[in-house]
Amino acid sequence: MTEQNQSTESPELADLESVLYTEAQIQAKVAELAGRLREDYQGRDLVLIGILKGGIPLLVDLSRKIGLPHQIDMIGAQSYRGTMGPVQEVRITKMLDLPIHGKDVVLVEDIYDTGNTLVKIKAMVETFEPKSLEICAFIYKNKERKQDLDIKYIGYKIEDVFVVGYGLDYDEYYRNLPCIGVLDPKIYSG
Ligand code: IMP
Ligand code: MG
Repeated sequence: MTEQNQSTESPELADLESVLYTEAQIQAKVAELAGRLREDYQGRDLVLIGILKGGIPLLVDLSRKIGLPHQIDMIGAQSYRGTMGPVQEVRITKMLDLPIHGKDVVLVEDIYDTGNTLVKIKAMVETFEPKSLEICAFIYKNKERKQDLDIKYIGYKIEDVFVVGYGLDYDEYYRNLPCIGVLDPKIYSG
């Protein structure tokens, strides 16, 4: 595929300051995470739970690559914050459909930033008494946090910059990008 064709397919690429991870790198990383899950969850009763909406691409890719019988579900959460400030409040917008009592659950999330969203979702999911509960976050931001969670499965650790693509949005755009990149500050500073 020529570069010209690629930019025709994703005009949003022009809004990136830099690409951190290409589609090929991301897919190789997902295969690596799926391999770890395959080893860890052999013979267990696994449910992968994607956190809407950013966790969807990773949920779908992991599910197809894991090579183990498992169920999938989704949970919706909306984090309120000023444009890009810290999360003020987390509201559950979609509940789980599956009973997860006694199951081995892995929460699948796009990014671990302040951790506020995951702390709240994890506490909520724990009330259903799964047998085990782990977290897979594709991007882990290196930063100081008030509460720290143990994230067992991490794709990439990055500095504290605003990234988009592979599920990650700015104003609900860019989730479709197959790569992950740093958004050009011009886009959000007007
Ligand atoms: P938290 O701060 O860890 O609670 O993250 C809450 C949500 O903020 C994540 O699920 C993402 O939807 C969003 N978020 C945090 N950092 C970024 C980023 O760099 N790009 C896009 N969305 C982000
Ligand atoms: Mg978001």
